[in-house]
Amino acid sequence: MVIETEPKASASTSVSNVECDIKDRSLADRGRRRIEWAEAEMPVLRQICERFEKEKPLEGIRLAACLHVTAETANLMRALKAAGADLALCASNPLSTQDDVAAALVEHYGVATYAIKGEDTDSYYSHIVAALNHRPQITMDDGADLVSSMLFIALDRLNDVHPKVRDWASQLTAEERHALLDDVIGGSEETTTGVIRLKAMEKAGVLKFPIIAVNESDTKHLFDNRYGTGQSTIDGVLRATNILLAGKILVVCGYGWCGRGIAMRARGMGARVVVTEVQPVRALEAVMEGFEVMPLMDASRIADIFITVTGDLNVIDRHHMEVMKDGAIMANSGHFNDEINIPALEELAGGRGQEVRDFVEGFKLPDGRTIYLLADGRLVNLAAAEGHPASVMDMSFANQSLAAEYMVKNGPSLEDKVYVIPQELDHEIARIKLLSMGIKIDTLTEEQKKYLASWESGT
Ligand SMILES: NC(=O)c1ccc[n+]([C@@H]2O[C@H](COP(=O)([O-])OP(=O)(O)OC[C@H]3O[C@@H](n4cnc5c(N)ncnc54)[C@H](O)[C@@H]3O)[C@@H](O)[C@H]2O)c1
Repeated sequence: MVIETEPKASASTSVSNVECDIKDRSLADRGRRRIEWAEAEMPVLRQICERFEKEKPLEGIRLAACLHVTAETANLMRALKAAGADLALCASNPLSTQDDVAAALVEHYGVATYAIKGEDTDSYYSHIVAALNHRPQITMDDGADLVSSMLFIALDRLNDVHPKVRDWASQLTAEERHALLDDVIGGSEETTTGVIRLKAMEKAGVLKFPIIAVNESDTKHLFDNRYGTGQSTIDGVLRATNILLAGKILVVCGYGWCGRGIAMRARGMGARVVVTEVQPVRALEAVMEGFEVMPLMDASRIADIFITVTGDLNVIDRHHMEVMKDGAIMANSGHFNDEINIPALEELAGGRGQEVRDFVEGFKLPDGRTIYLLADGRLVNLAAAEGHPASVMDMSFANQSLAAEYMVKNGPSLEDKVYVIPQELDHEIARIKLLSMGIKIDTLTEEQKKYLASWESGT
């Protein structure tokens, strides 16, 4: 699967002597313009990149990243490269790659990139193999596919990996498989679902190196998950369908950080928002925010649009689809495409649906109703739109780059656990972001610091 790119004949800016598997290298200039456009909205990452350029904190470190290959990720790659890292990048979702950005990464920035929008599962895992082949010392995941593949191999659980990964791993001796982990200093994880899996690995005692859960930083989930997913999910639904949200009943399944953002933005566009939850506190928060809260079965009978964002399995199931209105639209913005039971939908419809627009598939049911599925149930904001705006990814990827630096410095003394980034770094990211927005805030006086740290004074 690893294709050696031929040197580009004409472009003097080309640095492509790197390995890659991408769609079309001729898209590179368009990709670069897009990367530069995003960069303008990423002042925190830019500042880190400038420091990395001077200090080279990742000099010679082999880093494999499994992330959505977007313009914002490209800017993260530039920062890591400026820090001296030796990079390999593969996609963390078959539909989220921006092919022009992938081309620019190879042609203009010399980053070994393995990602093609619309790749099938075999290609997806071949690309993971290419990242594993890089023998990373630092891993950077979005959904934990890279780390889980590595651990399955190292634990000799080859039946649990995709056949492409198994084929590659079978060519290694048992010693070589176990040695895959020898050089690993640690890793980082971008998203909620990945963090849940990594914590499960830690609990099961199979996590073999430390991980920083970037998602747990305040400057990540409070902004990326809420405002980023909120805006870009609505963007994905609208770009795919061009429907009017005003007056529609829109169901958000899951009122976590992402769900809050989607519900808030959908309401802002005039939708009547219904929230479904399984966690009582979160359901109560949704009620007090003024949303209607009800079981999904009740919502299924009345809603026009459904968006799942739970990280859970089969949230929308066959019995929900059985009662949906004709023309109901289903989309998912959670990490994996298993929140909507697509096999059940296929069973109901007697096969795959018909593509009626890009990323819109209509499933005709025997009773005459048609139910629409967007982007094959994959992250609709990345598949049908462009993912989060750069301004929020600025903070997420500032966290990622500082996590890599922190791991290189401190990894050897950490245990095989899931960690969060130190609060000073989290606050520093917020401080720089505020400064870049021209916003100043107050600071505590010495008297206030003393007061807040004391317990003696009362009424
Ligand atoms: N689309 C994106 O770009 C993007 C960005 C960030 C995170 N994510 C993904 O979105 C998902 C949610 O992330 P989050 O940070 O909001 O997580 P979260 O844990 O804050 O929220 C998830 C919520 O879903 C609820 N839930 C679980 N099962 C449910 C069910 N069957 N019905 C209704 N509610 C249910 C939980 O109680 C929880 O409140 C994860 O898979 C995460 O990885 C996607």
